[in-house]
Amino acid sequence: MGRVSFPEGFRWGTATASYQIEGAWREDGKGESIWDRFTHTPGRIKSEDTGDVACDSYHRGDADIALMREMNLNSYRFSLAWPRIMPSGSGEVSSKALDHYRRVVDALLDAGIRPLPTLYHWDLPQALEDRGGWPERDMAGRFADYADACMRALGDRVDQWSIFNEPAIFTLMGYLAGIHAPGRQDLDDFLRATHTVNLAQGEAFRAMKASRGDALVGTAFSMSPCEPGGDAEADAEAAERWHGFVNLWYLEPALRGRYPDAFVDGPPLERMGVRDGDMELVRAPLDWLGINLYTRTCVEHREGAGWGLDAAHVGPPGEEGPRTHFGWEVWPDALYDMVTRITRDYDRPVIEITENGCSYSQGPDASGRIHDTERIDFFRGYLAALARAIEGGADVRGYHAWTLLDNFEWAEGYEQRFGLTWVDFDQPERPRTLKESGRWYGTVAAENGFEI
Ligand code: FCB
Repeated sequence: MGRVSFPEGFRWGTATASYQIEGAWREDGKGESIWDRFTHTPGRIKSEDTGDVACDSYHRGDADIALMREMNLNSYRFSLAWPRIMPSGSGEVSSKALDHYRRVVDALLDAGIRPLPTLYHWDLPQALEDRGGWPERDMAGRFADYADACMRALGDRVDQWSIFNEPAIFTLMGYLAGIHAPGRQDLDDFLRATHTVNLAQGEAFRAMKASRGDALVGTAFSMSPCEPGGDAEADAEAAERWHGFVNLWYLEPALRGRYPDAFVDGPPLERMGVRDGDMELVRAPLDWLGINLYTRTCVEHREGAGWGLDAAHVGPPGEEGPRTHFGWEVWPDALYDMVTRITRDYDRPVIEITENGCSYSQGPDASGRIHDTERIDFFRGYLAALARAIEGGADVRGYHAWTLLDNFEWAEGYEQRFGLTWVDFDQPERPRTLKESGRWYGTVAAENGFEI
């Protein structure tokens, strides 16, 4: 027996994203997003699900906040929908949308919950994709204008911000793998998109700081510790390259003004569209780093892998831990390893865990209770690993479980349920029921730790 405990003032929250929960896809003048277009295209999403209604959080924000209060939470990471705020992607700003988000923020503050908005959690205005999307360099300036509009509208009441959610994932899945919106599969588009997003991160950071210098601005990076999948020296080297690519591609430019050593022959700067002076523009001395982490990654070297750029070859997922319903390996040490490494390599930055969670599909039993014990086990393991990293010297200020509500899980539709709360998607009013894991998480938040 022992106790896992967290530093005084540690923040407990959940994370969500606009497209995954809001619904109301064409209300109050909202413009079309790339996810609206993508989900309305047959064959893209499992069961042809869409986010048209999702959890209906656009109308049910009070119910969402009631759940957070029931769980004693004091932080909420959510995202702003760019196509609501700028329906055609640039130019005119919708006062209705800004009023909506002001109401959300005020309701959170009234409930004693810190609002932590993310500017971009993947719902790009379709009008900007029609002009070329992220591979086009001028997107950086458009994004900075949007960031500026958000800070002007909400900066009087929001102190801490996240610029992007998982830049490594939305560029890769949207422009190379084609599994996410906008569904493109082109190596050059992808490489250029990665550089535009880095430029956008730097430009947005400066725009936000210009209107409110003391705002705390960071980004939520997807991270996964990369372990060699074999014993050869080449596997270890490949794992390091893959670490540079999946974990650092948007962090190293921001903090150090350089691309990491992810490719044997160096970053393909020309194909990425890098110009003289750009490595100054991508710099952004982020005030805090968000880490989204689910599992570890095993990497094997394979000659010529990595799209002919010799990055690495990602091997089979780790096979020692149990699997979630999504098939992701449960590997709590991944969180310890990643937080510890970032702490060491970047001189002990301020970190928040901006996402961590698991998909299990249990629904209500005859008495209406949802016994999702595997999810509780998952959180126990990862939180204990996080507490160890903090004891070891990491400066981690908060933790956000993914996610508050079962919601629209991108290409998987509604099949993967990551929520601490069950949502009945068959009912028009989208009723919500706290799962056993939600109750457990609520006691952890109240007691700032738990017994093991
Ligand atoms: C992350 C996304 C989030 C959610 C989880 C399961 O990559 O940021 O929106 O889909 O995965």
